[in-house]
Amino acid sequence: MIEFRHMQKAFGTSVVLKDINATVNEGDSIAVIGPSGTGKSTLLRCLTYLDPPTGGQIFVDGEDITAPGCNIYKVRQKMGMVFQSYNLFGHMTVIENIMYAPVKLLGMSRQDAYDRGVELLKKVGLADRTLKYPEALSGGQKQRVAIARTLAMDPEIILFDEPTSALDPTMTGEVEAVIEDLARAGKTMMIVTHEMNLAKRVANRVFYMDEGIIYEDGPADQIFNDPQREKTSRFVRKLKVLEFNIDSHGFDFVGASTEIDRYCFKNHIPLKTSNKIRSVIEELCVQILLPVVKDPGINVCVEYSEEEEYTIITVKYPDRFRPEDSGDSGEDLSYRLLKANTESIDYSYDEAEGSTIVMKLR
Ligand SMILES: Nc1ncnc2c1ncn2[C@@H]1O[C@H](COP(=O)(O)OP(=O)(O)OP(=O)(O)O)[C@@H](O)[C@H]1O
Ligand SMILES: [Mg+2]
Repeated sequence: MIEFRHMQKAFGTSVVLKDINATVNEGDSIAVIGPSGTGKSTLLRCLTYLDPPTGGQIFVDGEDITAPGCNIYKVRQKMGMVFQSYNLFGHMTVIENIMYAPVKLLGMSRQDAYDRGVELLKKVGLADRTLKYPEALSGGQKQRVAIARTLAMDPEIILFDEPTSALDPTMTGEVEAVIEDLARAGKTMMIVTHEMNLAKRVANRVFYMDEGIIYEDGPADQIFNDPQREKTSRFVRKLKVLEFNIDSHGFDFVGASTEIDRYCFKNHIPLKTSNKIRSVIEELCVQILLPVVKDPGINVCVEYSEEEEYTIITVKYPDRFRPEDSGDSGEDLSYRLLKANTESIDYSYDEAEGSTIVMKLR
């Protein structure tokens, strides 16, 4: 359906996409992942010609859209795009937002556009919001309207650029569910996302982008569980791990707590456990270690094991100091709290690595 052949995109002298080769088949639901700045958005923008490629070719249904004389407006109608910010018209009701393009661009009658709009709103779970204005909707609802609006043009492929990244964690689920429905119904889609849950839920294939190319292209299961190439492997591992450094006494623990909550939410870690994780890190790092570690450089790693349903917290710091030696009695309150909240605490010391504490909790 879509084929990229040695596609290139440069902005001035900076070559962002060096050599893109890939085929998107009908019914494919492809998650495009990769570090920031690797050209994921640019890839979608090249495909829709919002940013024309600077080399190579793109074929859509067999037609070379980079060829001179190609009617790009016609090709573009085959593609629907959903962005991070929903861009709904604020002065129009939900249904008018959806009817607008089919009436204006496809010449559909208002009645047909209305009927279809209502149908689509049902599909995204918003049948009761037809006559509301966007300002009366939550972020998740707005994004679902944006998806309905895109579907109203009946595109052959839908391109999503981070459809859930502007949403509160509580609202990502409802948007993910709609995208998942579309995938299940066999809609062809490319979804740029940093949300690995979304990628796992909806993608049959994953493009991992790095170094200006589609660095690894494979089934979702391969990319997430058995990546074949070095950089993919490193990227995927990093996603599963929350890592941060506590390197000064002015460390922003509130900020870190928010990160921890986010991480727990994404990994479906129960609230009770996430409270424990936060408390364990605060007791150990902020209460016990920070005052005694001389050159404060504490590295914290949180990793959740899905299969075994426990969380491992690894804390590393340069000094030789056992946490149980804290307090006068060696059994102060912080340490007792730590013990109460963990299944095990293992301390080790290595000349080169310094101290390592591995805590397991459920
Ligand atoms: N219009 C432009 N002019 C110049 N450089 C650009 C332009 N658009 C993108 N770039 C550059 O191209 C590179 C890739 O950008 P792009 O937005 O595609 O990355 P991305 O993978 O989508 O990143 P993110 O995950 O942060 O959204 C970046 O280095 C960016 O600065
Ligand atoms: Mg982007």
